[in-house]
Amino acid sequence: MRLLTTSVLLPALLPICFASEEFNSYEKRDYIFSDPKSACSKLGASICIQNVTVNFANFVPAGTNLSFTQDYGLNTCGYPNALVTSDMCRVAMHVSTSSRSGITLEAWLPVNWTGRFLSTGNGGESGCIQYTDMAYTAGLGFVTVGANNGHNGTTGIAFANNSDVLEDFAIRSLHTGVVVGKEITKQFYGAPHKKSYYLGCSTGGRQGFKSVQSYPLDFDGVLAGAPALNYPNLNSWSAHFYPIFGNPGNATYVPIPLWAVIHQEILNQCDGIDGVVDGIIEDPELCRLRPEALQCPPGTTNSSTCLTSAQVGAVRLAFTDLYGVDGKLIYPRMQPGSEAIASLVYYTNGPFSYSTDWFNYVVYNTTTWNPKSFTIADAKVAEDQNPFDIATWNGDISAFQKNGGKLLHYHGQRDDIITSENSPVYYNLVSRTMGLNSSSLDAFYRFFRISGMGHCQGGEGATFIGNLLSSVSTLDPQNNVLLRIVDWVENGNAPETVTGTKYVNDDKAQGVAFVRNHCKYPKRNVCMDPAKYTSPDAWKCIL
Ligand SMILES: *[C@@H]1O[C@H](CO)[C@@H](O)[C@H](O)[C@H]1NC(C)=O
Ligand SMILES: *[C@@H]1O[C@H](CO)[C@@H](O)[C@H](O)[C@H]1NC(C)=O
Ligand SMILES: *[C@@H]1O[C@H](CO)[C@@H](O)[C@H](O)[C@H]1NC(C)=O
Ligand SMILES: *[C@@H]1O[C@H](CO)[C@@H](O)[C@H](O)[C@H]1NC(C)=O
Ligand SMILES: *[C@@H]1O[C@H](CO)[C@@H](O)[C@H](O)[C@H]1NC(C)=O
Ligand SMILES: *[C@@H]1O[C@H](CO)[C@@H](O)[C@H](O)[C@H]1NC(C)=O
Ligand SMILES: *[C@@H]1O[C@H](CO)[C@@H](O)[C@H](O)[C@H]1NC(C)=O
Ligand SMILES: *[C@@H]1O[C@H](CO)[C@@H](O)[C@H](O)[C@H]1NC(C)=O
Ligand SMILES: *[C@@H]1O[C@H](CO)[C@@H](O)[C@H](O)[C@H]1NC(C)=O
Repeated sequence: MRLLTTSVLLPALLPICFASEEFNSYEKRDYIFSDPKSACSKLGASICIQNVTVNFANFVPAGTNLSFTQDYGLNTCGYPNALVTSDMCRVAMHVSTSSRSGITLEAWLPVNWTGRFLSTGNGGESGCIQYTDMAYTAGLGFVTVGANNGHNGTTGIAFANNSDVLEDFAIRSLHTGVVVGKEITKQFYGAPHKKSYYLGCSTGGRQGFKSVQSYPLDFDGVLAGAPALNYPNLNSWSAHFYPIFGNPGNATYVPIPLWAVIHQEILNQCDGIDGVVDGIIEDPELCRLRPEALQCPPGTTNSSTCLTSAQVGAVRLAFTDLYGVDGKLIYPRMQPGSEAIASLVYYTNGPFSYSTDWFNYVVYNTTTWNPKSFTIADAKVAEDQNPFDIATWNGDISAFQKNGGKLLHYHGQRDDIITSENSPVYYNLVSRTMGLNSSSLDAFYRFFRISGMGHCQGGEGATFIGNLLSSVSTLDPQNNVLLRIVDWVENGNAPETVTGTKYVNDDKAQGVAFVRNHCKYPKRNVCMDPAKYTSPDAWKCIL
């Protein structure tokens, strides 16, 4: 009988463990290679970890197209399939985290293991195992774990009247998956992992930073994109657009077609600041948008080419930093350039559902909060509440640094959901809190601004950087941030730039449109030779 800990168990959670002497003697890896199927079922039968119930453990050969909804009715947030590209043992579990909460967890253990462990994260308010990420990293030989973050689906309703579910969402799900996953790794291969990694974007980016801040020993390398940092404030900022623009018919409402006009005006004002007019604003922080350039003459109504005074005022507000009742920054402005999608997410689409869920189910414990009524007074209530320190805004990450951890942070510069201007605010908080300038931070924390990238992916820029399976150009670490964090941790090859590729119509089959090196903050990218702007050599990172 193997028990991970001897702490007191709730009777209902007491695992029933059947000893498997043969397995517990730690088989050699040869055995896994020669008979992976039986090694996997033995693992499933012998896992005995506090609070863990194994649903199944299946050997899955490379080439299998897994269908998750069929497996056990799991809500996968619209990603029902994933292609497995290396032979592996797939263990599906439930792990209870309290008497009224628990996580759905999977561990994918490749036969041809690299000795590396990796945890994936989540997205938005979900609620779903990110199977595509698991397929990506397990396919590259990482033991990979992924959890549903403590609830199923994409809404926050599970937080209502259950702070344990909220605690899972804040960090407990990720940390629990890491503890359980590392134990299973040891049990399967007969040896512990050598290095441990994290991959996540958006809410997943926040989870990565929360781990760095609160569980600094969990990972040797953290790859975190577009992080949902300062989380209660992010919900307030996301909520503040609806009262600004209102609904069709309101004087402040700006209809969808006008956003294309505004986007073009933003490009007119700002695209050339980086040295070339190519539809991509390298450093949106330098873009001080002047919406008055689109002001209609007096008496105009419902124009499709210019803005009324009320509309100009609303646009100006959307691109202005949001300050709170105490005069402190709630969240920086939306960065200019992301209008094509941000207009559909925030400016013309009514209330933002994640924010409404947050104010209903977490802040006010109700179902009837009116998103039209949002003011900065609500932001203050949410910020002060900050359950389980989900803000993830601690600037002291020295414990992670001392453990030798490396943190690779990136943010798309035309993110349409989480403004990219918040990432430097955090980077600079770390700099001040730890008293380290950027060359000192370089030793363990590097931040890259990915121009022309939307929220975690897509966009006009060179966005194939290997952060997701769908954004892989090559496995060369210079072009692949996942393999770059590995190269940094294991070989000390720290990234100076991150090289991205843009494919014609984002389709690899149609060939490369251009390649660009993205700069390490606080440097910015400028084009020295506009005639050759599609070549990375035409660009330079400057301070
Ligand atoms: C996997 O199966 C699904 C559903 O049948 C299908 O839509 C998808 O294209 C398949 N994926 C691959 C890579 O074959
Ligand atoms: C999530 O869905 C799985 C599969 O149906 C189920 O076993 C689990 O209990 C659900 N989790 C929660 C928190 O409802
Ligand atoms: C098991 O769950 C209990 C609550 O039900 C919790 O207190 C304990 O920390 C959990 N154990 C582990 C190892 O996570
Ligand atoms: C195992 O992976 C390595 C690369 O990590 C590769 O060179 C080798 O061919 C793989 N072996 C098998 C049996 O798949
Ligand atoms: C939420 O409000 C209800 C009704 O007022 C109350 O019974 C419940 O305890 C509250 N829950 C929390 C988590 O505050
Ligand atoms: C927006 O329009 C609604 C009716 O469609 C009206 O009730 C509301 O007062 C208007 N708000 C503003 C700010 O004009
Ligand atoms: C504005 O004009 C468009 C057609 O150009 C029309 O469909 C729309 O209803 C008008 N809106 C208002 C508020 O008059
Ligand atoms: C919380 O529980 C109380 C008491 O059962 C209920 O009245 C209230 O509606 C619940 N809150 C939410 C947000 O569901
Ligand atoms: C940054 O700080 C380090 C350590 O204090 C110092 O050696 C270095 O000169 C500083 N770099 C810059 C650019 O000021």
